[in-house]
Amino acid sequence: MTQNIYDNPEFFENYGLMERSVKGLDGASEWPSMRTLVPDLRGCRVVELGCGYGWFCRWASGQGAAHVLGLDVSEKMLARAMAADPDGRITYRRVDMESLELPVQSFDVAYSSLALHYIADLDKPLTTVHRALAPGGRLIFSIEHPIYMAPTHPGWRVDADGRKTWPIDKYSVEGPRTTDWLAKGVMKYHRTMGTTLNLLIRIGFALEHVEEWAPTDRQVTARPEMAEELERPMFLLVAARRVRTLLRYTFAAKGNGAMQTLKTLLWFDGNAEEAV
Ligand SMILES: C[S@@+](CC[C@H](N)C(=O)[O-])C[C@H]1O[C@@H](n2cnc3c(N)ncnc32)[C@H](O)[C@@H]1O
Repeated sequence: MTQNIYDNPEFFENYGLMERSVKGLDGASEWPSMRTLVPDLRGCRVVELGCGYGWFCRWASGQGAAHVLGLDVSEKMLARAMAADPDGRITYRRVDMESLELPVQSFDVAYSSLALHYIADLDKPLTTVHRALAPGGRLIFSIEHPIYMAPTHPGWRVDADGRKTWPIDKYSVEGPRTTDWLAKGVMKYHRTMGTTLNLLIRIGFALEHVEEWAPTDRQVTARPEMAEELERPMFLLVAARRVRTLLRYTFAAKGNGAMQTLKTLLWFDGNAEEAV
C-alpha cells in the first residue's frame, strides 16, 4: 500500500499553494515540453495515472478525447478534480497504482505527470498500462529526474565563490528516499535512468523521446530564478509507444511437386498470452 501523502492535511494544504496547483498546466514549467509529446487526442481514449486535481484530464477532454479516465489514490485530490468537472465529462476513480488494473486494449493514450516516482515497483503498473493500450498506443510521463531524487539529503550547496552545485550520493542505490517536502517524511522511490528506460523496453515499449528537462532561454529571461534549473535536471520526460515486435516469420514452399506456402507470423506484444 502506498503512503498516500497527498491526503495528509499539512501536505495537501501546502501543495495547494504551489504555482502549478493554482495555475494548472500553465503554472507547470515543464508543460510546454510535455505538451509537444502528447499526440492529437481527438477521438482518443485517455487514462491519466495520478491525475491530482485533474488539470490534464480537463485539457484532454477539451482537446476532443472521446473518453478520459483519471486515476488517483488521494481522496482529497480527487474531490478537487471532481468539483472542477461538474458536468461529469471525465471519469475519476480512486485507485492505488501499485495494484492497478485496467481492461486490455482499452486506451489509446496513457499519461502521467510527476506521479510514478511515488511507486515502489513500477513493473506491475507499467505492464498493466502496456496491456491496456491498443497496439501503437502512447505512454507519456514525467517523473522527478534521478539526479534530482538520488541524494539522501537533496539540496543546493553554494561554495565560497558562489558556485551552486547539487551534490549526489547513492545514485546507484535504488529504493526509497524520504524528504521533508511540504510535510515531514515524504516517501519517493529513486531508480536510475537506465532502470526506468530498460524497464519500458523490456515490457514492450519503443522509446520515442527522452528529455532531461531544462528551462528554455525564454523561460529563464521571463523568470531569472529558473536559471538554477540549468545546473541539474529536475524532471525526466518520456514518450513511448506500445510496439508489436515480429518475433518469428517463416515462409516455406515445396511439397508433392506443387508449391505450398506456409506462413507463420508471430507477433509479440510483450505479453506472451497476447501473441497471435
Ligand atoms: C505531484 S502530484 C501530480 C498531479 C497531476 N498529475 C499534475 O501533474 O498536476 C502526484 C499525484 O500522484 C498521486 N499518487 C501518488 N501515489 C499514487 C499511487 N500509488 N496511486 C495513485 N496515485 C498516486 C498523488 O495522490 C498526486 O495526486
